[in-house]
Amino acid sequence: MGRRPDMERIEEVADLRRVLAPVRADGRRIGLVPTMGALHRGHLSHVPLLLAHADLVVMSVFVNPLQFGPGEDFERYPRSLEDDAKLAEEAGVDLLFCPQVTTLYPPGSETLVELPDLSSQLEGAVRPTHFRGVATVVAKLLNIVRPDLASFGQKDLQQLLVVRRLVSDLHFDVQILAVPTAREPDGLALSSRNAYLGADDRREAAALNRACRAGFDAVAAGERAASRVEAVMAEVLNGFPRVRPDYAVVRRLDDLKPMTVVSGRAAVLVAARVGSTRLLDNLVMDVTPDGVREIRG
Ligand code: PAJ
Repeated sequence: MGRRPDMERIEEVADLRRVLAPVRADGRRIGLVPTMGALHRGHLSHVPLLLAHADLVVMSVFVNPLQFGPGEDFERYPRSLEDDAKLAEEAGVDLLFCPQVTTLYPPGSETLVELPDLSSQLEGAVRPTHFRGVATVVAKLLNIVRPDLASFGQKDLQQLLVVRRLVSDLHFDVQILAVPTAREPDGLALSSRNAYLGADDRREAAALNRACRAGFDAVAAGERAASRVEAVMAEVLNGFPRVRPDYAVVRRLDDLKPMTVVSGRAAVLVAARVGSTRLLDNLVMDVTPDGVREIRG
C-alpha cells in the first residue's frame, strides 16, 4: 500500500466541494467525523472504523456557537487546532474541514432544524436550544460534505438518536455509524470537557460510569422495575459529594421515553455536574427473556 498523501486543511465550503467532486466521481466512498476539536482518543477512534467502510475520511472541527446556551462554555471551550491537525493526520484523516463561524452562519442565515419531541427530554430539558444547534450544524455539514457514511459517538446517545432521526426525516442519503465510548481506565468516558476537571473532581468523575454500570448490573441480575433500577443508580451517585446529578434514568432506546418495566432495547443514562463541569454517560442494553446483553456502538 502506498503512503497516504498529507492531510489537507480546508476552511472554505467551495474548496472542500472542489476537492471532493473527483473523489465522488471516481466512486470512492467518503466518511465524515464531525467534531468540535480538542481531540482525544475517543474522537480519533472513529477514523479507523470509518476507513473500514470508506476510502477517504473528512473530519470537521467547528465549535458550533448555536448549540451552546447563554451562560454555557462556548467562549472557554478548549480550542487547539494545531494539535488537533497533528492528531487527525496521524489517525488517518485525509481532509480537515475547519470553517469560520461566518462561513457556516453567514450574516442573514436563519434556517434552523428542530426535533421538538426527541429534543425536549433529558439533555433538552436542561439545555433547551442545544439539539436545535446540533441538528442545524449537522444538516449543514452533511450537505457540504455529502458523505456516504458519518460517525457519531454513543457517549452522546441522545445526539446520536437526534442525528438518526434527522437523517431519516430529511431523507439524507447517508449511513450513520455509532461508535462505542472510549474510556479512561477508571471508566470515565473521554470528553473534551474532562480538561476542566480539577484533581478532586477528576477522582469523583468515574461516578457516572459506576452508576450506569450499577443500573446495568441490576437489570442483568433480574431487576425489571425501572424505578428500582433508577434508585440503584441514584444511590451510587449519592456516595460522591462533588457529583450533582441532573438525571439518572433507564429509558427505551428508540425514543428515550420512560418505561415502567425494563424490556427490549434500553439505555441507562446519567448527566451530572462534577464541581462545575457537566458530564454525561450511558450504557445500552438488549433485555430479552434469554438474558441481558450490553450493546456497544
Ligand atoms: P464533540 O463533543 O467534539 O464530539 C465529536 C464526536 O465524537 C461526537 O460524535 C461524539 O459523540 C464523539 N465522542 C465524544 N466522546 C467520545 C468518546 N469518549 N468515545 C467515542 N466517541 C466520542 O458532539 C459534538 O462534538 C458536536 O455536538 C457535533 C456532533 C460535532 C456537532 O457540533
